[in-house]
Amino acid sequence: MTKIRAAITAVGHWVPEERLTNGDFERMVDTTDEWIRTRTGIVERRILRNGATSDLAANAILETLKNRGIPPSEIDLIIVATVTPDMFFPSTACLVQERIGAKNAWGFDLSAACSGFPFALVTGAQFIESGTCKKVVVVGADKMSSITDYTERNNSILFGDAGGAVLLEPSADSSSGIIDHILHCDGSGEKALHMRGGGSLNPPTHETVDKKMHFIFQDGKTVFKAAVVGMADVSAEIMERNHLGGKDVDWLVPHQANLRIIDATAQRMGLDGSKVMINIDRYGNTTAATIPLCLSEWWQSGKLRKGQTIVMASFGAGYTWGAVLMKWTAEDAR
Ligand code: UT7
Repeated sequence: MTKIRAAITAVGHWVPEERLTNGDFERMVDTTDEWIRTRTGIVERRILRNGATSDLAANAILETLKNRGIPPSEIDLIIVATVTPDMFFPSTACLVQERIGAKNAWGFDLSAACSGFPFALVTGAQFIESGTCKKVVVVGADKMSSITDYTERNNSILFGDAGGAVLLEPSADSSSGIIDHILHCDGSGEKALHMRGGGSLNPPTHETVDKKMHFIFQDGKTVFKAAVVGMADVSAEIMERNHLGGKDVDWLVPHQANLRIIDATAQRMGLDGSKVMINIDRYGNTTAATIPLCLSEWWQSGKLRKGQTIVMASFGAGYTWGAVLMKWTAEDAR
């Protein structure tokens, strides 16, 4: 029997209009445009002033369905990868389901921080491959501005808000769609990257607010060292075990946390810089949205074409990290 593969048949994204530039940060904290550009590659990010993660997710999904030409009622399952849900419960997936009128869908949120999209993609693919679902929407959306402390300079300059989505459908072609994945987590990374306030460990009190426990904490240097190794290793491993060299891969789609981490990964994979999707300069780190945001922009511009081989790679809080190998299956943008 031929194995059913899960294939991406449509992609879409949504970002808010408002921009926060490096120049804006020069006026807010003790930093410079030069420092931010050279240390991170970021020039500006988008900020959602009014609204929540469900708005980012719903708009990205509607764009995706428009690109595929199907109504929300055809969706079987919605998986929202996010660390900034609108609220603890109900899940953002439920809020999105109602908002877009996906009346036949069930859904849930998945928390894997910057690796949220690959983790959710692989999860969604299982429902397609098992024959349980025919149309699964996987969306990565984060309103990072809601957990960012804009009075300090170390982390505030890194993050932005965005949503990106894909539609997964079955494919009988065994050489296309999602071909392989490697996913990892290591909870010892919690010390270096976390938001400890608000959960059952530290329910919200005046003290947790005063101690800024509802904002992202990151020991940047420690995370940087782990990310450079983790993302490069897992990307090289997925290529090796699928007998692929640099020339066989059309695009690396890396999580956009730091240009230096992306460069190190591409180098390790033997990839020319022209094969790496990079938009960190325009959006910063949008956590679960970075990878589908790249896919959507590159598809829209006609650079990402049907039949191309893609490796997506991520590293983030947890630690969580991983790589997914796929052959791109969506029809080319018109
Ligand atoms: O997406 C989830 C996973 N996250 C990541 O992958 C992020 C990984 N980490 C990073 O990308 C980098 O570590 C950062 C961009 C966060 C920081 O870059 P860095 O090169 O590691 O800088 P650093 O933290 O070692 O700081 C170097 C210096 C320090 O000054 P001193 O101690 O050398 O005098 C900082 O105080 O830069 C200073 N600094 C800044 N200066 C100007 C830190 N932030 C800023 C700033 N503007 N915004």
